Amino acid sequence: MSVMGEARTRVQVLASQVADQIAAGEVVERPASVVKELVENALDAGARSIRVELEDGGKTLIRVSDDGGGMDREDAQLALQRHATSKIRTAADLIGVGTFGFRGEALPAIASVSRFELETSAEHEAATRLRVTGGKLDAAEASARQRGTTVTVRGLFYNTPARRKFLRATATETRAAVEAVTVLALTRPDVAVSLTSDGRALLDCPPATQLIDRVRALWGRELAETLLPVSHRAGPLEVTGLVQRPAQARPAGRKGYVFVRGRPIRDPFIVRAAEAGYRSTIAPGDRPSLLLFLDLPGDAVDVNVHPAKLEARFRDKFFVEKVVEEAVREALAPLESAASLGPAGFQVSGVWFQGESGAATASGVPLELFGAAALTPDTRHQTPLLQVFDTYILFQTDQGVAIVDQHSAHERVLYEDVMRQLSGDGAPAQRLLLPLTLDFAPAELDAIEAHRELLARVGYEIEPFSGRSVVVHTAPNPHPRFEAARCLQELVADLAGGRFGGWQNRLERFAATYACRAAIKAGQTLDVGEMRQLIVRLLSATLPAHDVHGRPSLVQLPKEELERRFGRA
Ligand SMILES: Nc1ncnc2c1ncn2[C@@H]1O[C@H](COP(=O)(O)OP(=O)(O)OP(=O)(O)O)[C@@H](O)[C@H]1O
Ligand SMILES: [Mg+2]
Repeated sequence: MSVMGEARTRVQVLASQVADQIAAGEVVERPASVVKELVENALDAGARSIRVELEDGGKTLIRVSDDGGGMDREDAQLALQRHATSKIRTAADLIGVGTFGFRGEALPAIASVSRFELETSAEHEAATRLRVTGGKLDAAEASARQRGTTVTVRGLFYNTPARRKFLRATATETRAAVEAVTVLALTRPDVAVSLTSDGRALLDCPPATQLIDRVRALWGRELAETLLPVSHRAGPLEVTGLVQRPAQARPAGRKGYVFVRGRPIRDPFIVRAAEAGYRSTIAPGDRPSLLLFLDLPGDAVDVNVHPAKLEARFRDKFFVEKVVEEAVREALAPLESAASLGPAGFQVSGVWFQGESGAATASGVPLELFGAAALTPDTRHQTPLLQVFDTYILFQTDQGVAIVDQHSAHERVLYEDVMRQLSGDGAPAQRLLLPLTLDFAPAELDAIEAHRELLARVGYEIEPFSGRSVVVHTAPNPHPRFEAARCLQELVADLAGGRFGGWQNRLERFAATYACRAAIKAGQTLDVGEMRQLIVRLLSATLPAHDVHGRPSLVQLPKEELERRFGRA
C-alpha cells in the first residue's frame, strides 16, 4: 500500500502565509465578509463616522475609512500578524467581551488573500502606510492623514483562484455588502455610516440618537411608521427594539434582526419566539419585521461559538425565548399599537381615557358588564359613542378619534374569553328551553365528534340524535342578537372545511373559528348600551388593537393629524 511506500509523507508545520490563507477561508468568504470585519474594526476603534466604498461589488476594491483611534506604526505592523489583538489579553477577558473583534484574525486573513493597504494615524503619532500583497509586507512608509484608519482591499482572492471563481455577480455581492453594513449600522445609530458603490451612494446614515431614526435613514419613513417600540425587562435580561404592527406584517420581505449585547446574531429560535408573541394577531404565514436587542450579563452568554461570530450560546435559552415572546406581546398590548390614520402613529406612551393610561387598561381589568374599570367615571358618561355604517364605532380619546370595527373587536374579545374558558372551567352556557335538533353532513358530524369537548367548553352541549341529526341542549350567549343555531352550523362547517388551517395550535384554531362565527356581525345596528359594553370589554382585552386575522380591530385618527389637515398645527 502506498502509505507504506518510500513516498511516505512527513508531518510539517505550514508556512505562516499558507496557514493565513487557510484561516482566511473561515473569516473571508466574500467581499461582504471583508466589509463586515473592517467596519467592526472601525466601530471598535471608536469611530464617529465610517465610509465604505465598493467597486464592482467589492471584487475590484473595498475601502473602509474611519475617524477612530488609529494605530502607530508598531501596532499597525503587529495588527497584521495572526492572533495579534488589542482587545483581549487573557481567556478570562473573553467573558463579556464588549468589542466586535477579539481573535486577532481578520486583518491577516484579509491581507493574505488580497492586495492590501493600511493607512493609519493615531493621535500625536506620524501616519503610516503599509502595503501587503498576498500576506507579504511590501512597504512600510510614512504618510499624511488625520487621525483614523483607511483599509483598502484590492483584487480579493487574486491569489486563490478557486475562491475567486465562487464570487457572484456584482449586484449580488453589492447587496450582501450593503446588508453587512446595514446590520452594523443598526447596532450604533450614533455613528455616521455611508456606503458608495461604483460612485453611487447606497447608504447614507447621519448620526442619530434613536434607533427609529436609523431605521428611517436605512429603509425610509414608510417602514419606520409600521414599527412599535419594545422595552421589556425580566430578571437579568432586557429586550428592546422595534417590532412591526401586526396589520402591516406581510408574508415576504421582512426585516429580521437580533442583536445580543450589541452584536448581530442569527438565531432562528429567538425569531420564532418573537413570532410566538404575535400569536392570534397575524395571519398564518405573515412575517413581521423585528429588530430585537437583547442585553444580559456577559457571563450569561458565550459569543465565541461561531467562526464569523454569527451565533451566541445562552446559558438559559428557554428563559431568553420566553422573555422575548413576552416582550413582543407587551409591545402589542397598548392601544398605541393600533394602526394609525396619520403620520403621528409613533408614540411611546399616551393617555386614552382621561386619567387612564392605555397600557394600564390593557390587562387585568375585570370583565363586568358595562364594567367601569377601564374608564374613569367622568369619561364613561362623557365620551359619546357613534356607530356608523352599522359597522364601525367612533369615540374620542385623549389622543384623537378611535374607530373600532365592531366585528373585529368582538372577535378579539371572544377569542380571549374562549382561550381562558378552554383552559379553565368553560363558559357559562344557557340551557335551551327547547333543545335544538340540527342536521349535518357526514364530514361535519365527524368534526363535531372531534371537537365535542371544546364545543362543550364554549357552551354547546351536543348529543348525537339519529342518523345525521344532533340535539343541542345548551348554547353560549355572547351577545343579545346571537343566533345559536346559525353560529353552530357555520362553526362546524368551518371546522370540517379546515378553515384557519394555518393555525398551529388546535385550541387557538378552534377559539379563532368560534370567535369569528359568534361575534357581532358587521351591518348590525347596536344601541348605546351594547356599544359601550363592547368598547369597555375591548379595552380590557390583552391585545385590544388587533383582531385574530392579522387586521386591526381599532385604528386611530390622531388629533395631530386633524390639526395638520385643518391647518391648526
Ligand atoms: N480601523 C482600525 N482602527 C484602529 N485599530 C485597528 C483598526 N483595525 C484594526 N485595528 C487594530 O488591529 C488589531 C487587529 O485587528 P483584527 O481585526 O485583525 O483583529 P481583532 O479585531 O482584534 O479580532 P477579530 O479577528 O475578532 O476581528 C485590532 O485588535 C486593533 O487593535
Ligand atoms: Mg477585527
